[in-house]
Amino acid sequence: MARHVRKVTTVLLMIGIMCVLVLFEMDTTDKQLWPSFLLQDLRPCACNRCVTEDDDQWFTERFNTSLNPFLTQDNTLSENDFSWWKKLQQVNTNFLSYRMAEMKVFEIFPEQESFMDSRPDRCRTCAVVGNSVNLLGSHYGPLIDFHDVVIRFNTARTVGYEGDVGNKTTLHMMYPESAVDLDDNTHLMLFPFKTLDLQWLVSAFTTKSVTRTYTRVKSTIKANQGLVKVLHPGFIKYVHEIWLEEKGKYPSTGFLGVVLAMHICDEVNVFGFGADKDGNWRHYWEELRNKHLGTGPHGGGQEYKLILHLAERQKLNFYRGR
Ligand SMILES: *[C@@H]1O[C@H](CO)[C@@H](O)[C@H](O)[C@H]1NC(C)=O
Ligand SMILES: *[C@@H]1O[C@H](CO)[C@@H](O)[C@H](O)[C@H]1NC(C)=O
Repeated sequence: MARHVRKVTTVLLMIGIMCVLVLFEMDTTDKQLWPSFLLQDLRPCACNRCVTEDDDQWFTERFNTSLNPFLTQDNTLSENDFSWWKKLQQVNTNFLSYRMAEMKVFEIFPEQESFMDSRPDRCRTCAVVGNSVNLLGSHYGPLIDFHDVVIRFNTARTVGYEGDVGNKTTLHMMYPESAVDLDDNTHLMLFPFKTLDLQWLVSAFTTKSVTRTYTRVKSTIKANQGLVKVLHPGFIKYVHEIWLEEKGKYPSTGFLGVVLAMHICDEVNVFGFGADKDGNWRHYWEELRNKHLGTGPHGGGQEYKLILHLAERQKLNFYRGR
């Protein structure tokens, strides 16, 4: 017995000495608190792999850690970014009316959870669930629901498809033309293309007076007002310019969701992305009506390639479905 104890003690002692040696090799000039440094500061998060781990030069050249993806009172849209954003839909609008709409948003929707709280002891996992038909028969449902944050898009459905897509939704990204009702625990996340989209959001929770954009839209929406978030238009510009190198007119909601997840989560798993065998983006809940849909105004092929590339670099895990 005593011999075992001595053996274990010796091994522990050796590990201790090795740790100390390793630490002295490192640059410790700005680390003052040794105990927390020993246990925590070595890794950016507590997952098996963190998005921001290691010095992948290709990634760090693109990924902007200090960028807040959400529109907030402390993170409003600059006039410069506004000039880029307003060209997305060629609608006549000026910065002043944008600012008025933005202020109304801050009035109606109180500041809440920012998701920008990364810590060495946090392991937040994100499932980004696209709407691709490749989810059918995948049985990913329980795996998807196991994530801390589940992100879905536009008219995504779960009822009747739980086994393949899960039933939990944390963030539901949409724009007025793709809006759906949500349950009380889901964050409605607006993806704004134009000033009118912000006005629609406010209207949907107050006067219900906005009923049309370029098409008929829902005048009201069921969702928890305290959980509403708005994606920063400057974030759309960042994704378009930095990540997509300006391919396509603007990023798809799905691809924005992937980059968003890398910013708010420590580990990102991607499901339900990719065209069907004819090159069309088909939803898992419907038959394809337009056989030549392709990927619409988005650089679909480019986005898909980039997701695969991020998977190769171990910045996310890609689930192909079937
Ligand atoms: C990262 O984002 C911040 C905040 O928007 C911005 O000030 C900064 O210039 C960006 N950094 C790079 C390298 O683009
Ligand atoms: C999802 O399914 C689980 C297990 O079947 C159930 O307990 C839970 O209430 C469901 N959640 C929602 C939001 O429907």
